[in-house]
Amino acid sequence: MEFKNWFKEKVNIIDEYLGQVIEAKENPQKKIYEAMNYSLLSGGKRLRPVFFLGAYELFKDDIKEALPFACSMEMIHTYSLIHDDLPAMDNDDYRRGKLSNHKKFGEATAILAGDGLLNKAYEIGLEAAIKLRSINAIKALKTIADSSGTEGMIGGQVIDMDCEVKISSIEELKHMYALKTGAIIKSSVTAGAILAGANEEEIRTLGTYAQKIGLAFQIEDDILDITSTQEKLGKAIGSDAANNKITYLTFKSIDEAKKDIEKFTEEAIESLSIFGDRAIYLIELAKYLTRREK
Ligand code: IPE
Ligand code: IPE
Ligand code: MG
Ligand code: MG
Ligand code: MG
Repeated sequence: MEFKNWFKEKVNIIDEYLGQVIEAKENPQKKIYEAMNYSLLSGGKRLRPVFFLGAYELFKDDIKEALPFACSMEMIHTYSLIHDDLPAMDNDDYRRGKLSNHKKFGEATAILAGDGLLNKAYEIGLEAAIKLRSINAIKALKTIADSSGTEGMIGGQVIDMDCEVKISSIEELKHMYALKTGAIIKSSVTAGAILAGANEEEIRTLGTYAQKIGLAFQIEDDILDITSTQEKLGKAIGSDAANNKITYLTFKSIDEAKKDIEKFTEEAIESLSIFGDRAIYLIELAKYLTRREK
C-alpha cells in the first residue's frame, strides 16, 4: 500500500473511534462533553495515534486492540493544546482552524475540558487493559503516563513558560523540546511497541527514532510559526515572537534549522535499520513530516 493511503486509512480509523468516544450526555455537566469534542474532533493531524499504530504494526497486524491506547495519546495531546492556548500560557485565539477552546467556551470550561480529556485518556486505556488482561497494556499505559507528566510534557511546558530565565544554550533548548514535544511523540511510538510485545532492543531503537523525530517536529513548528499563514496552520502565526519565546530560531537561521531537521530525520531513519523493510511506513512518516505545511 502507498504511504499516503496507509496514512489516510489510519487517520480514518482514529477519527471514527474519537468520534464516538466522548458521549454527549443529557446531564447538568453536559457542556463539558461539547467542549471536549469541540477540540478533539476539529481536525488535528493525528500524528501521535498514527505513530502508535505504526509502531504496533511492526509486530502485530490487527490494530483494533491498539486503537483505544493510540487514541488516548490524541486525547492527552489535545488536552495539552487546550491548556497551551490559555491566556495564562501562550494566549492563542485559534487552534485547528477554529477559535481556541477558551475563546469558545470560556476559561473555566476550557481548563476543565482539558482535564476531562486527560482523565478520559486513562479511562479508556484502563478499560482496554482490563479487557485484555495484559501486562504489556499496563506497561504501555505507564509509559504514556510518565511521558505526559512532570518529567515529560508538563515538565517541558514549565520550562517553556519561563524560558527566558532558564534557557541560554541550544542544548538547554533541546532538552526542553525533548520534554514538551518529544516525550509524547516518543511514548506514542514506544508504547505502541510495548503493547505489541516488542523486546527491549526494539523498544530502545524505536525510542531513538521517535526522539529525533520529536526534535525535528518542534523545530519545524518553530519555523512554521514564522513562515506559514494562519490559513494553512489553523493557528495564529507569530505567537512565539509575541510571547518573547526562545525557540530554535533564536540560535539558528531558518536555513540552518531546516538542515538540522533533515539531519535529525536521516538519523531517525537510520536507527530503524534493524527492522529492514518492515519499517517502511515509519520511514515514510518521518520523511512526510519534513515536508509538512501545517
Ligand atoms: C502542535 O502539535 C503542538 C506541538 C507539539 C508543536 P501538532 O502540530 O501535532 O498539532 P495538531 O494535533 O495537528 O493540531
Ligand atoms: C506546545 O508547543 C507543546 C505542547 C502543547 C505540549 P507550542 O506552544 O509551540 O505549540 P503550538 O505552536 O501552540 O501548537
Ligand atoms: Mg506553548
Ligand atoms: Mg503554543
Ligand atoms: Mg509553536
